Formats: sequence, structure tokens, C-alpha cells
Amino acid sequence: MIKEIKSILVSAEEIDKTVEKLAQRINADYAGKSIVLLIILKGSVVFASDLMRKLDIDVTLEFMQVSSYGGGSVSTGQIKITKDAQTDLNGRNVIIAEDIIDSGNTLKALTELLKKRGANVEVCTLLSKPSRREAQVDVKYIGMEIPDEFVVGYGMDYDEKFRSLPYIGILKEEVYAD
Ligand code: IMP
Ligand code: MG
Repeated sequence: MIKEIKSILVSAEEIDKTVEKLAQRINADYAGKSIVLLIILKGSVVFASDLMRKLDIDVTLEFMQVSSYGGGSVSTGQIKITKDAQTDLNGRNVIIAEDIIDSGNTLKALTELLKKRGANVEVCTLLSKPSRREAQVDVKYIGMEIPDEFVVGYGMDYDEKFRSLPYIGILKEEVYAD
């Protein structure tokens, strides 16, 4: 464990079991169908790469990078698209792969946008912090609910760091205090 991490919240083994269960549900729900796994950059890259290799259905990949407009607690329900998908998603079964859902604001705006584009959208998130939820968003696949702690690793960052850790760790407060 590196010095910036207070404790390990989810070990690599637990992550693997969680991803396996999510994949089994998706395999059952989409048996005989094809999906577009929409990977939200950058935090979802590690999760999505593990998830896709456990899927035994037809999968194509798309990537988007989005950020919420405005800061603070103001939720405009709008998103800024910094990278958009490259194919037409109209009529496609799109599963959004997310690392973690916090307020849910970004995801709500994104799912609304994709529905407007004609996609059948579901969300698959590795982690969820239910106590932080502001936006009402239907999330069909949730790997694990976690307490309100700032976590890093397995794709998730603080200031672009710690994404490559193989486990999910709780960051020491002093790291984001200075
Ligand atoms: P939301 O729109 O508030 O749900 O924002 C979700 C996004 O915030 C996630 O996709 C992450 O990029 C980021 N995020 C939220 N909580 C954490 C955390 O504990 N660690 C790292 N990133 C987080
Ligand atoms: Mg993210």
C-alpha cells in the first residue's frame, strides 16, 4: 500500500468478484443480443476493460468524455462533451460503464442525451455512493455501494494520480487538504 492511502476499501480480489457478478447479469439480460459498451473517460477505463473480457455477448466499444457545466452545488443538468462517440447510437443497446456515481448529475444528463439520440440506455457502475445522490437516475447495474469517502485506484483519480492502483483505496485527507 502506498503512503497516501489510509486503507484499502476494496481489494483486487473483491473487485474481480464484483465485476464477475455484473458481467453475469449483463450476459443473462443481453443473451443473443449485441451491446455498445460506452466507456466514460478516463475513470472507467480499468473497470470497462475487465468487464468486457467477462462478457460473452457481442460487444462494440465507444468512448465519451464529459464534464458537468458549472461548479459548486449548482446542478444545471447539462454536460459539456469533450469527446463524443463516433458511431450512431440510434436503436442500439448502450450500456454506460461508469467507475463511480456520486451526485449522479453527470450521468443523468448523459443518459437523457443518449435517449434523445435514440439509444436504449442502461448504466453499469462499479461503485455508488448513495448518500451523495442529488439527481434521480436509474442505475440497473451497481457493483457495490460504498460510504461517503473519497476513493482512488482502479481507474479513479485524485488530481489525475492513483488511477493505476490495482485496488480501491481511501485517500488520506491530508493529500487533498494541501
Ligand atoms: P457525479 O456527477 O457527481 O455523480 O460525478 C461522478 C464522477 O465524479 C465520477 O465519474 C468520478 O469521476 C468522480 N468521483 C466521484 N466520487 C469520486 C471518488 O470518490 N473518487 C474519485 N472520483 C470520484
Ligand atoms: Mg468518471
